[in-house]
This record gives sequence, C-alpha cells and structure tokens, in this order.
Amino acid sequence: MKTNDSMKDENVFYPPKSITRKANVKDYETVYKRSIEDREGFWADEAKKLKWHKKWTQVLDDSNKPFYKWFTGGKINIISNAIDRHLKTHRRNKVAIIWEGEPGDVRVMSYHALNREVSKFANVLKSMGVKKGEIVTIYMPQIPELPIAMLACAKIGAMHSVVYGGFSVEALAGRISDANSRVLVTADGGWRRGKVTDLKSIANDAMDRSPTIEVCITVKRTGQEVHMENDRDFWYSDLMSLPIASPHCKTEIMDAEDPLFILFTSGTTGKPKGLVHSHGGYSVYTSTTHRNVFDVKDEDRWWCAADPGWITGHSYMVYGPLINGSTVIMYEGAPNHPYPNRWWSMVEKYGITILYTSPTAIRGLMRFGEQWPKRHDISSLRLLGSVGEPINPEAWRWYHDVIGRGECPIMDTWWQTETGGIMIAPMPVTPLKPGSATKPQFGIEVAVVDENGKDVKPGEEGKLVIKAPWPGMARTVFGDPDRYVETYWKEYEKQGWYKAGDSARIDEDGYIWVIGRIDDVIKVSGYRLGTAEVESALVSHPAVSEAAAIALPHEVKGNAIHTYVILKAGMAGSKKLEEELRKHVSEEMGPIARPESVSFLESLPKTRSGKIMRRVLKARALGVDEGDLSTLED
Ligand code: WTA
Repeated sequence: MKTNDSMKDENVFYPPKSITRKANVKDYETVYKRSIEDREGFWADEAKKLKWHKKWTQVLDDSNKPFYKWFTGGKINIISNAIDRHLKTHRRNKVAIIWEGEPGDVRVMSYHALNREVSKFANVLKSMGVKKGEIVTIYMPQIPELPIAMLACAKIGAMHSVVYGGFSVEALAGRISDANSRVLVTADGGWRRGKVTDLKSIANDAMDRSPTIEVCITVKRTGQEVHMENDRDFWYSDLMSLPIASPHCKTEIMDAEDPLFILFTSGTTGKPKGLVHSHGGYSVYTSTTHRNVFDVKDEDRWWCAADPGWITGHSYMVYGPLINGSTVIMYEGAPNHPYPNRWWSMVEKYGITILYTSPTAIRGLMRFGEQWPKRHDISSLRLLGSVGEPINPEAWRWYHDVIGRGECPIMDTWWQTETGGIMIAPMPVTPLKPGSATKPQFGIEVAVVDENGKDVKPGEEGKLVIKAPWPGMARTVFGDPDRYVETYWKEYEKQGWYKAGDSARIDEDGYIWVIGRIDDVIKVSGYRLGTAEVESALVSHPAVSEAAAIALPHEVKGNAIHTYVILKAGMAGSKKLEEELRKHVSEEMGPIARPESVSFLESLPKTRSGKIMRRVLKARALGVDEGDLSTLED
C-alpha cells in the first residue's frame, strides 16, 4: 500500500497485533494481486475447500455475457457443505445455532440436531408435493424454523423466497404471486417489543389475494388465536410429528448453476425484482468472504444481527457461517427490549466474539448512552462489522471505542442483494479509515467512473462499477432476464461492467468511500425500499390521485421517506388525512415503509415525458439548488 501523509493521519486505525498475528489473511496485497491476475485459478482454489459431488469442468463460462456461469459441469448442494459434511467431523457435536426469543426462551442446536430438523422438514415439504425447482415462500419471524425451512428447501432442490416478516399484505401477496408459490411457510406470530405480531392474519389476507397457494404451514410461536383454513392450513408441529417427517432425507445433488433461492429487492422502477442466486458460486463466495473478512475461527461465536428476510441474513446468518461450521447466534426481538442492554447482555451471556450489524442499529443503541453496554462484560468481542448503509464517523467511533474497547477492528462491508456477498471491505489486517469500506475483496475489481466510463480523479464522486464477474453474483432477475441486462449491464455494455447504482469516491490511498444510491432506491434504517412501491401504496388509497416519494437524511435511520401527493378532485388535505395515509402505507407495505411526512401538492414536478423529477422535490425540501431544470415540464 502506498503510504503518504494521509495514511499517517490520526484518523487511521491500525488493527492490534493480537489480531493481525493470527489473521486468516496476512498479506492482502499479494493475494489480491494473484486473485486479479489469475482470477479463475484463485476461485478454483477457493472452490476446492468445499465438498463437490462432481468437480467442475470450467471455472467461468462467459460465452453468454452478462449471463455468466461459474463452476459449470460441477455437482454440489449448498446443504452438503452447510450441514452434511460437518456430520462426519468433530463439528457434528458443535453448536450450530443458539437462538434466544424476546421473552427469554432459549434453543440450542448442534449440527447433528440441525440436520435432524432440516431433514424432517424436508420430508414434510416433499409430502406436500414440493418438487425440485419449485419456489416455496417463507414469511416468518426470527425463529429457528426460519433457517430450518430455508435449508430444507435447499436440501431437496426447491428454491426459497423469504419475505421479510416486517412486510405486510401487499408486499407479501405481490411476492407470492411473482414466485408462483404453491406452498407458504409462516408462523402464528412473533415477539417484538413485548407484543405479538400478527403474521398469520397478514398471511391469510395475502393468500386471499394469491390464488396460487395450495398449502400453508404455520409454526406455533405465540399461541395466539389464528384462523386456519380447512384443507389449506397445517400446523408445523403436527406435520413434524407424523411418520412422514423422518429424520433421514437424501440431499438432492444439484448442478452448480441450479438456482438456490430468489430474493425480492426494490429497484428503480415498478415492482420489486426477484434476484436469483445459485448453489455453486454462492456457496463459494459467501463462505470465502465470511472467512476472510471476519477471520472466523472454529472457536468463534458469530452473531449477525440482521433479519434472515434480507440478503445479509441469507448470506451471513445462514449460508456463509454454516458452510464454515460456525456457531451462529440468533435473536428474535428488539435490541432495546425490555431495556437497552438486551444486546450487550446477550454478548456477555453467550461469549459472542464477532458482531455484525447496521449503522442504524448502532446509532439507535448509541442514543441510550454508554451506561448500558458498560453494565456488561463484553470483552469477548474480537471483531465488529457494519453493513447496509454508510457508517458515519461518530457512530463508527462509538462502536469502536465503547463496544470494541478501542481495540476491535470494524469491518465496514459494502455489498448488495445482487452481489450475493461482501464486495468491498477491510480484512482484519487492513488499516481502517472510519466511514470507508476500504478495499475490494479478492477477485473483485472496482472502479469509480463518469458517464463515459472514465475513471474520475481521486477524491471525486462518480459511479461505482464492478469490472469483472464473481461467483456470488445474481444470475438473473427471476422471470425477466431483460430487466437484469437493462438494470445492471446496459449502461456500461461496451466495457462489460456491472453498474452498482451507488455513487462513491476513491481517495489517494485507494480507499473506497461509498456515498449512497443514485437511483430511486431508498435505504431506510439499512432496509432497502423503492420509491415506486411507496408511491403505489399511496395511490391505492381512494383519496390519492398521484404520489411521489423521496429520501431525506435522518439522524438515526440514515434516511427517512417523505412523500408528496395530489389528491383526487374534491378531496382536501388535512392533518387527519396525512395520518391516515401514513397508516395506509404501513398497512399495505409494512411499518418500515411508513412515511415520515405526507405533503399535499397541487402538482408534481415532471419532465415533459411525464416522469416525476424526484430530485427537484428533494432539492426543494433541502433548500438547495434545484439544478438543471431544462427538462421540467412547467
Ligand atoms: C447500501 C445490503 C455504504 C448501498 C447488503 C447498496 C452500503 C445497498 C453499505 C444494497 C456500506 C450496503 N456502505 N452503503 N457498507 N452496504 N450499502 O441490497 O447503497 O439491501 O447499493 O444489500 O445498500 O442494499 P441491499
């Protein structure tokens, strides 16, 4: 690495010797260089660390760009790696999952026990006629049955589509119908801030709008009264106690490129898109990055405090860590329930060594003050991680000083649902600059460019692109390959680069600073939402004729949603209607989408072709220059 004055700055944090001495990756620069010069050789070596039923014949098949294929000819199942191979080693008895419910109930499962549960549920799914390639929708709170259901699908070659348990009727119904799911796995509810959530009635309403569903399997978590439809609804526990739920189930052997799951995520326009990830490349990519970035060792206790309903949960709560044979911590509820020490008491109780969370969560806990973590011995922590949005230096310092005793390096990881795994992040040997995700992962070539694809100067803002394929990349948009090409590959088609949709800058030391989205995707509390979805929820209200949503900065959430509506003729805006519209969005989409404000306007700024100019609304709200208005209609 080039050292100049800025690397000697007091704002650069060097990782302690206790960590660098034992790090899995000791020489980032050398390995990185090799991974770029001999990309396929590098990935072949990583892939060899996994169990394959048949070795690949080709590492990268780029004959049909941008639909890249990895490890073609290879046979694998992610479950052969995440569970099966551990059963033949000491890890059979190792704790796979420690789960704590919000009320304080605890479940601990060894790899042996996890295999039994997954196999049993896999047999249940089979008995319901679930076939290889079919998509099972999963809509659950954070309980062990959620990863169990995901793993069971993977085991029999079915795909899962997990819908975040915080989403509501419209969001769930849309995702079920896009996936054409016949089977839904859900729960009667979950615990959140001392109350039970109403999952099953939301699922029931969504199923009323989804004619494809034939079977719904419900886990009894809260015991609350719920409506069960004859011939459609079954209790999970009833099915799991039947003879068909045998604990022996053969893991289906899959082609490396066979799809593992789809995960819907918000895009620039229209409906969320289902990104498709595959068994082979995704297994290699998630396990490699988990091992390198978080330096995982067999004795670690790993806590990714995300929700499995988002990509972070898929890659770093379920698949990556289980492939690496880690002990995974899971918690059902709110970080501040019953008191703001809940997380820190868990760190102490379970001796957690690595914590991976979002800047929003850190800012939220920071507000309660350091007396809460100070009440606990959290010295077991060795490494900390951050994901989902840029971390502001103030939150970084608090995380580092108060939670990490000024010693734990912070792995600020930049990536996306589309990338499958971490793309830009330090490794424990990397000197850190608060707010920078630092350097690309092995095999990843990043650039920050202008419209023409020219590198911008150091320190200047530009568009973030990835210059070459990687094994964890999404293979396509489910059912809409054109949209995959259009969204990610069209703009830099000539160069063959992937457009991330973020703006960034690279400093003199080659450190990457991600600034934020340049499209109409909003990150609220690290959750990804599309302005289009919020707008369509607003327009579904009888009083609204047109709507626009934008993101404005928010102290804790990073961004908050602000909306502008034109009412139908004869309707008048009022405080009461504003409240009603906010509630309406929350009911249709979920509480995370609840707008911070609703303003009533006579007209919306639009281009002559009728597109809403959200950037003009944003500039007005922030009181800054509105920029080029030459395309404005009026
Ligand atoms: C943002 C989450 C800055 C970014 C894993 C990206 C980040 C979007 C970071 C993807 C980070 C994620 N620093 N921004 N460390 N991590 N982002 O698909 O805008 O939910 O494009 O995946 O989150 O969000 P997604």
